[in-house]
Amino acid sequence: MKGIQIISTGRALPKQVVTNDDLGRIVDTNDEWITTRTGIKTRYKCEDETCISLAVSAAKAAIDKAHIDKSEIGAVIVATTSSEYAFPSVACMVQKELGLDEEITAFDISSACTGFLHALAVGRALLGTMNKRYVLLVGSERMSSLLDYTDRSTCVLFGDGAGAAIIGASDNIYYQKSWARGNDEVLSCPGAGQGPSFLSMKGNDVFRFAVTVLKQAVDEALKEAGMTMDDIDYCVCHQANIRIIQHVQKQFVGNEHKFFANIDRYGNTSAASIPIAIDELMEAGKLKSGMKVICVGFGAGLTWSSVLFEL
Ligand SMILES: CC(C)(COP(=O)(O)OP(=O)(O)OC[C@H]1O[C@@H](n2cnc3c(N)ncnc32)[C@H](O)[C@@H]1OP(=O)(O)O)[C@@H](O)C(=O)NCCC(=O)NCCS
Repeated sequence: MKGIQIISTGRALPKQVVTNDDLGRIVDTNDEWITTRTGIKTRYKCEDETCISLAVSAAKAAIDKAHIDKSEIGAVIVATTSSEYAFPSVACMVQKELGLDEEITAFDISSACTGFLHALAVGRALLGTMNKRYVLLVGSERMSSLLDYTDRSTCVLFGDGAGAAIIGASDNIYYQKSWARGNDEVLSCPGAGQGPSFLSMKGNDVFRFAVTVLKQAVDEALKEAGMTMDDIDYCVCHQANIRIIQHVQKQFVGNEHKFFANIDRYGNTSAASIPIAIDELMEAGKLKSGMKVICVGFGAGLTWSSVLFEL
């Protein structure tokens, strides 16, 4: 089984930070409700930044740290559902803005909050087929452009941001499984030409879905690898709600500390949440060669995916 090596990571956030009190001035909500129900304290919101500019900045941060010949990047894959364009793809704009080689496979993946893990699955597969050494993966979202700021049940939950990773091939351990259960009733957003494109969600249904599949996905990853949580160094779950993470975390007694959380500062950044989390862990020097990490994504689709890999 051929795995990946993370060469470098990066992230980009808008300048504007929106607090729960700021939202309390727009809709009928307050810091106490948002904090206790979600764990979110602040989130970032674009002013002059865009989904594309965030993707470019996060990708540039990863490239600047990579110390590689960037003409060796053979693919750029951007996971997003909130681009300013239906087309061209964000990936093509990243190729242009960063002056990447024209001999490159560049495209976006639309898979909401699971998007970055689907990008990882495709990027890893491409590594085995192309004659270049690296794939650039990006998760970038301007979720604020999809939010109805009169709907307190959704507008408090999401944030804007982007994360990126450059991966190469390795012989390290890698197991990934993905699932889909088509459903446009509990979490959806109209597409181009369909009038106002605001996200709508049945929060309780999505919460029940999330806690069920998150535990299942972690268990499946461990089962595939023949490991237990004792063998794992970090578990990076999509950051949707701290209560979703805690629900699963408390089922792994003795290993609770391995579950990473930064939702308090970002809210739900959809496809960007996992690469932002990995970049934070990298920056803090917490991820080292040989460590084993589980990542789990879940969201609209409905889709979910878990990956267990060795660094
Ligand atoms: C959205 C979510 C936080 C709501 O939490 P909850 O505890 O289930 O709350 P409920 O939806 O039952 O609402 C409880 C009350 O709070 C109110 N409420 C909803 N949003 C509110 C807000 N921002 N501020 C204050 N009150 C709010 C509701 O109107 C309801 O009031 P009522 O009892 O008078 O009708 C929770 O369901 C959730 O996180 N779901 C998953 C969402 C998610 O992760 N989506 C992305 C997946 S990738």
